[in-house]
Amino acid sequence: MKQWIDKLRKERTLRQEEFRQLLTGCDAETLRYINRQAREVSLLHFGNKIYIRGLIEVSNCCRNNCYYCGIRKGNPAIERYRLTGESILDCCKQGYDLGFRTFVLQGGEDPALTDDRIEKTVSAIRRNYPDCAITLSLGEKPRDVYERFFRAGANRYLLRHETHNEQHYQRLHPAEMSGKRRLQCLQDLKDIGYQTGTGIMVGSPGQTVEHIIEDILFIERLRPEMIGIGPFLPHYDTPFAEYPGGTVEQTLLLLSIFRLMHPSALIPATTALATLTPDGRERGILAGANVVMPNLSPREERKKYELYNDKASLGAESAEGLAVLQKQLNAIGYEISTERGDFNTIEL
Ligand code: 5AD
Repeated sequence: MKQWIDKLRKERTLRQEEFRQLLTGCDAETLRYINRQAREVSLLHFGNKIYIRGLIEVSNCCRNNCYYCGIRKGNPAIERYRLTGESILDCCKQGYDLGFRTFVLQGGEDPALTDDRIEKTVSAIRRNYPDCAITLSLGEKPRDVYERFFRAGANRYLLRHETHNEQHYQRLHPAEMSGKRRLQCLQDLKDIGYQTGTGIMVGSPGQTVEHIIEDILFIERLRPEMIGIGPFLPHYDTPFAEYPGGTVEQTLLLLSIFRLMHPSALIPATTALATLTPDGRERGILAGANVVMPNLSPREERKKYELYNDKASLGAESAEGLAVLQKQLNAIGYEISTERGDFNTIEL
């Protein structure tokens, strides 16, 4: 197994059969080895600095009905909310004072959060915080809308493809959604000039090793600037309530594979990983992640943005908890960077 890991670090890719062996035959010792290799690559590119992004969950209203997601349209059991532009700007102010230089506006596909409204909010953030990066994560939009947001000052966009395999995509989403459309959105975002993020949930229902290999090869072709990898976690008010979640080990393995293949990519230790296990964030970083995204949403709304059960939003997952986060990172030899942390292509 180690020979494939050494080869992956050197050549940044493997043949399908080699990926298959790595994904199916990775024992605890192999996992430690690949995590260490990935960590070394991350240290070479970013030093011991971890970028922070302030996550603002702008709306939990969504027109989609993804089977895995707690804020799906078909879930009547959650209280819906939508932040005003003013409230979003307040979050940015608080975040800026804490040292954040990237704001991530994430939300469901909320028709009431109109393109105009988003454009205005992005312009206002751009005006007030010229030194900050603005990341959007608001789902699928027509290309011209992505262009408007870009012109208004957005720099980055997160849109996980969730799975590259069309049959598997259909297993995770109702018929009106299409994997093809999602991939088109990603291409549009890249073409427009966004630093683009994509990614998958690890261990989602019906996911096979073949699907994961397809995802790895897709991400290799797309060359996204950001890669988000977190475990699937069931939510009790969704059709996938009874399915098991993804594992820490498989998530850490994939994190490391992506780090070895994409040395300069921005890869977060996700909230889902931190929710799955108390030391998830640290283990993610030790497996090659270099970004964390503490929650800057207003406290009253945080609990309502429950994509999966028990989603962490307090302590080191919260913007107020930066001191806690700093401590946790120090304990493993890392520290917070308050730089903007744009994607940087310098290859080592
Ligand atoms: N478990 C883990 N991740 C989830 N997401 C949505 N629902 C879940 C869940 N139940 C992820 C999706 C989405 C991102 C914002 O959150 O991958 O792209």
